[in-house]
Amino acid sequence: MRECTDIRLKILLISRRKEVLEALQTLLKRRPGLTIARKLVVNGHVDPLHEVTELPDAMVLHLGETWRAELEALAATPADRRPPLIVIGSAPDAPAMRLAMQAGARDLLPLPLVEADLFAALERIARDQQALAPAASAAVTVFINAKGGCGGTFLACNVADALTSRLHKRAVLLDLDVQFGTIPLYFDLFPARGLLQALENHTQLDEAALGGYLHRRGKLAILGHATQDRLPLEGISADAVDTLLKLCARSYEHILIDLPRQLDPLACRVIEQAEHVVLVVQQSVTVLRDAAKVMTCLQRDLLVDPGRILTVVNRHDRRSSISLEHVRSALACSEPILVPNDYRTVEESVATGQPLLAHARGAAVTRAVGALAERLDGGPNNVRRSLLSRTFSKVVKPRAS
Ligand SMILES: Nc1ncnc2c1ncn2[C@@H]1O[C@H](COP(=O)(O)OP(=O)(O)O)[C@@H](O)[C@H]1O
Ligand SMILES: [Mg+2]
Repeated sequence: MRECTDIRLKILLISRRKEVLEALQTLLKRRPGLTIARKLVVNGHVDPLHEVTELPDAMVLHLGETWRAELEALAATPADRRPPLIVIGSAPDAPAMRLAMQAGARDLLPLPLVEADLFAALERIARDQQALAPAASAAVTVFINAKGGCGGTFLACNVADALTSRLHKRAVLLDLDVQFGTIPLYFDLFPARGLLQALENHTQLDEAALGGYLHRRGKLAILGHATQDRLPLEGISADAVDTLLKLCARSYEHILIDLPRQLDPLACRVIEQAEHVVLVVQQSVTVLRDAAKVMTCLQRDLLVDPGRILTVVNRHDRRSSISLEHVRSALACSEPILVPNDYRTVEESVATGQPLLAHARGAAVTRAVGALAERLDGGPNNVRRSLLSRTFSKVVKPRAS
């Protein structure tokens, strides 16, 4: 039987139907620790938070006929004026999912409601609240490649190394390419345990326990795949990743995340928390086509401010028939950052597991990666948004089966 954990939350139930509010209240009353308020929407207002003066810890919104307007109103509300949201409604289609995501929905529970799913969603919110308690500040940067082989992992590793070895920052590098992550190889590491084991035990994870899964290279901590890991076929839990990020934010100034190209709910959730998204492209028609799709998704669906997206043209070749002007117009981006092509230096660095700074300090490719690290560090005048001050609104997760 599932263990019943204690949840202490103030919950606001919102619906246009009285009987739904009553049923939900009766259900939730069974769990001690929950304080429940109800809001019956009867007038023409579509904003679920209209006249709500004190924000609850969690809001459960039952979608009615005016669901679109309700979600749009929430999506337009600043994230810090929006409590964690659980949406209840009939099976959503893709546009509804996207809108719920933009409204900051943590979970979307279809009807008929599965009781255990509702309690599990509330437990997650309660857990997150507890984890948020201590002060934390870290700049999160995610690296996404527009196509496999563009150099996302190579840049994530070497930027992380430059931040620690040259700029003397405390940084942690996380490999969220769960199936084919290669980060340890870039540092000549062969870990016995790593990311998957840490996430499996995330409910017991604290800073000390996390240390047992990290591998260190100077000031850089690395959480990648264990050498003997099998290819995982199941996804990893977004909540577990949240816990990991919050723990890392307590100890490190920079969190660098290597993402696989697939923009799934987990990737979306991580991107939401990022200060910078580094999109790595190369000068090729097929890469630019995919990069344009990723760019649109980032800005339109995930509402990432264009100023937070850094486009890197890796293996830049000024003689290429695809010019920088082509890149700028295909991606509608500002000035891309250029990293030169240097096959020999990079190959040797990867083959020996020595980051560029250790292997070829003065090479042009090393200097370009160093400049990217400086840019991400922001310089002395940069006021970073801490992990805490950013929104923790979450994307909709598929219901656990
Ligand atoms: N600037 C560069 N110059 C030369 N070779 C590079 C450069 N960047 C990456 N590479 C090569 O491309 C390979 C693939 O890069 P990788 O980071 O694994 O791609 P991704 O993570 O985007 O799939 C690297 O192992 C390296 O050999
Ligand atoms: Mg990669």
